[in-house]
Amino acid sequence: MTKIAPSILAADFANLAADVARVAGAAELLHVDCMDGHYVPNLTIGPPVVAALRPHTKLFLDCHLMVDNPGTLLEAFAKAGADGITVHVELGDPSALLREIAALGVRRGLALEPETPYDAVQPYLADIDLLLVMSVHTGFGGQPFIPEVLDKVRAARKEIDDRGLAVEIEIDGGIKIDNAARATEAGVDILVSGTGIFGAGDPAAAARAIRNATS
Ligand code: DX5
Ligand code: ZN
Repeated sequence: MTKIAPSILAADFANLAADVARVAGAAELLHVDCMDGHYVPNLTIGPPVVAALRPHTKLFLDCHLMVDNPGTLLEAFAKAGADGITVHVELGDPSALLREIAALGVRRGLALEPETPYDAVQPYLADIDLLLVMSVHTGFGGQPFIPEVLDKVRAARKEIDDRGLAVEIEIDGGIKIDNAARATEAGVDILVSGTGIFGAGDPAAAARAIRNATS
């Protein structure tokens, strides 16, 4: 079954617990976009908000770090209650970061930007739990889906299956009801959606509709 990860970037930050409660029954993960104003030209949230959310939800807290120096934040995210931490391969060899994430008892994610080739993440497939394929350029919600990234999803799906690896594939950016099935047909396990869910009048219904579109 496809897993759904609403991105709180599109939620109401002044009513976060209430918005999270609205999607709780229709999602498996909660996607938390952490941006530092350096890796991307936007500044969002960090460990204090994860810690504030933790008592309000049992959903898997899937923290996507779009920051220049993730190593300085890993422990704080883990202590705050992150279940998964994803770092970007564009920062360089992620091996040490992935080891540190695992040592903190957190699931390891590795992300790649739309222009970054599959070859950049391929060497680390055995060292991760989650591969996050960006289908927009990081920085902002509400951008249009870039369909060309599905070729990377297909390549990853094939290799993960051929090697029997326990890596889930997540896609992030521009996911809506009308393209969700294309993503899962290419091999995606987890759909992140921000504006597609929190931008809808009924976020839970939107999350269910996205999942139903894939089955
Ligand atoms: C972009 C973020 C995404 C974003 C997705 O940098 O990583 O997670 O919240 O938002 P939508 O679904 O609106 O494209
Ligand atoms: Zn994200």
